[in-house]
Amino acid sequence: MIRAQVRGVGHYLPERVVENDWFTTFLETSDEWIRSRSGIERRHFAAEGQTTSDLAIRAAQAALNDAGLRPDDIDAIVLATSTPDLTFPATATIVQAGLGMTRGFAFDVQAVCAGFIYALSNANAMIVSGQAKRVLVIGAETFSRIMNWEDRGTCVLFGDGAGALILEAAEGDGTNFDRGILATDLQSDGRFRDILQVSGGVSSSQTTGHLMMAGKEVFRHAVEKLATSTVAVMDQAGVTAADIDRVVPHQANVRIITGTARKLALPMEKVVVTVQDHGNTSAASIPLAMSVAQSSGQLNRGELVVTEAIGGGLAWGAVLLRW
Ligand SMILES: CC(C)(COP(=O)(O)OP(=O)(O)OC[C@H]1O[C@@H](n2cnc3c(N)ncnc32)[C@H](O)[C@@H]1OP(=O)(O)O)[C@@H](O)C(=O)NCCC(=O)NCCS
Repeated sequence: MIRAQVRGVGHYLPERVVENDWFTTFLETSDEWIRSRSGIERRHFAAEGQTTSDLAIRAAQAALNDAGLRPDDIDAIVLATSTPDLTFPATATIVQAGLGMTRGFAFDVQAVCAGFIYALSNANAMIVSGQAKRVLVIGAETFSRIMNWEDRGTCVLFGDGAGALILEAAEGDGTNFDRGILATDLQSDGRFRDILQVSGGVSSSQTTGHLMMAGKEVFRHAVEKLATSTVAVMDQAGVTAADIDRVVPHQANVRIITGTARKLALPMEKVVVTVQDHGNTSAASIPLAMSVAQSSGQLNRGELVVTEAIGGGLAWGAVLLRW
């Protein structure tokens, strides 16, 4: 059977690093509060004029280099973002042109912090169905553009960045020892759309709006829903927590990451944590963490990896893959 295997991975972070202390210059907050409530120590912010597609192109080029491929070797780009360059066209098409890719097709996926899980799942479906052989899956965000800098409960938590993964069709045996994506689970529940949303939009206010979050409410849903989705993909593939080599969770908050790991009986030694350096980069957080983990030797070919995320919608999900 056809499997969607990881062929390459890469990331890009804007140059400007902002430490927690920076926020104390204009907000009633402290490094200690931010660290203890979220685990975040610093984040990167895009330079003035630097767009989501700029970050995505750099991450995609890094993934192409890692894979030893050229842009025209790619059949499709699936880009997850909630901070597109423009209302339309899709940021993915801007990336396609920026890479110098003259064939294939490109589109965006919008599932906020779960965006990369949704994009991976879509790319997997396209590969398994034979619609595409190589898919460039990107998560890229400039959340600094939608922050309310007067809201200390949100603006300290987010950052900018991009990560990219290249998936490639390969023949597998149909067992959970195959490399590639083994199981996916996508969920959403729009009844909870108000607890994490942006206050503007094209057809409602004709403004971009600012991020608003009922942090405690989101927290309450996060651990339970992430654990449920993770169990769903493990069950689909017939594996248990003991079989998992590495967990790459969405990097929102270290308390959500540790709480979910505890609920799943997954030891923290198996969990990739980058939130201290990146903050919450929404759809970019998982591919960023994967790329950093591969570079540092925390993620190796043949390892069984589970990745999970939740975000606005609420939308959440998980993917099980053998790296
Ligand atoms: C946002 C979050 C860190 C807040 O932590 P918390 O322990 O729930 O804190 P609370 O909301 O109870 O706030 C406690 C107090 O800290 C204050 N506070 C909020 N942000 C603050 C900041 N940056 N600095 C200092 N104090 C702050 C609040 O105003 C509140 O004060 P009050 O009790 O006088 O009203 C936490 O709820 C969270 O991580 N939620 C999930 C968020 C998330 O990851 N979302 C993305 C999912 S994709």
